[in-house]
Amino acid sequence: MSQINQFTITDAVKESFRTEEGSRFKFLLETFIDHLHDFTREVNMTHDEWMGMLNFLYDCGQISTPERHEFILLSDVLGLSALVDMINTRGGATEGSNLGPFYLDNAPVLELGADLARGREGTTLLVHGIVRDSLGNPLPGAIIDTWQADGSGTYPIQEVGQDKYDLRGKITADAQGRYYYTTVLPKPYTVPYDGPVGRLLRAGDRHAWRAAHLHYIIRAPGMRGITTELFFENTEYVDNDAVFGVRKSLIAKLEPVKRQEELAYTLEKRPDAKCRFDFVLAPEG
Ligand code: BEZ
Ligand code: FE
Repeated sequence: MSQINQFTITDAVKESFRTEEGSRFKFLLETFIDHLHDFTREVNMTHDEWMGMLNFLYDCGQISTPERHEFILLSDVLGLSALVDMINTRGGATEGSNLGPFYLDNAPVLELGADLARGREGTTLLVHGIVRDSLGNPLPGAIIDTWQADGSGTYPIQEVGQDKYDLRGKITADAQGRYYYTTVLPKPYTVPYDGPVGRLLRAGDRHAWRAAHLHYIIRAPGMRGITTELFFENTEYVDNDAVFGVRKSLIAKLEPVKRQEELAYTLEKRPDAKCRFDFVLAPEG
């Protein structure tokens, strides 16, 4: 140990932990130490930079509350959340994307064809498609759990006096795996930028806008559930979403509805526009 120098310290730190041989924890910890030390040596880190980095993390902790997790936001704007989503997407399944901070697991159950918007202003959008497996077989009974911002880019949960269960619901796919409902076309909104992550964005001349999106968790018995988002072609920020949530395969086309009679569904509300998206789930395991 007395022979320690800036190159031998990495092994010394790794060896100081008595972790189970061959365990995942050992692998994660040692790889992290390797990369952390390599990074520090590579940039020739100064004391000011080291303290600045630690103070930044401290500030992230200070501003975090049960409702605001600044470290997740940091992970989002650094593309780490997106990278983990990409790594964990199963071949053949719909690509994963951000869960975001506004999910509630007990959203109201809605009938097929229901209107999620309940009188909110904006473009009424029909969202429809099929939930199927990677071989193309429909998945009847699949649960489509959705939540979203409104026509001005606000989640009801963010607003005092609003019902936090507005603009969210759980819909069950029919015998052919079909799902359909109407809602209000959401608008883009900004991720919180009044804290340390906002400072980081400003320091790097980056904006805080998310492309308009609908959130989904899709589940079906025997299948691996997915958490994803749906975006819209040719809308603002779809090419530079602040949290790197957009994937080409998750961009749906918005089409005007000219003749209501052509729609194959019984709907609570007449839509102005429609978009189709099929969700594909891979088997569990
Ligand atoms: C969202 O999509 O709801 C979201 C994602 C990341 C940060 C903030 C909001
Ligand atoms: Fe969102």
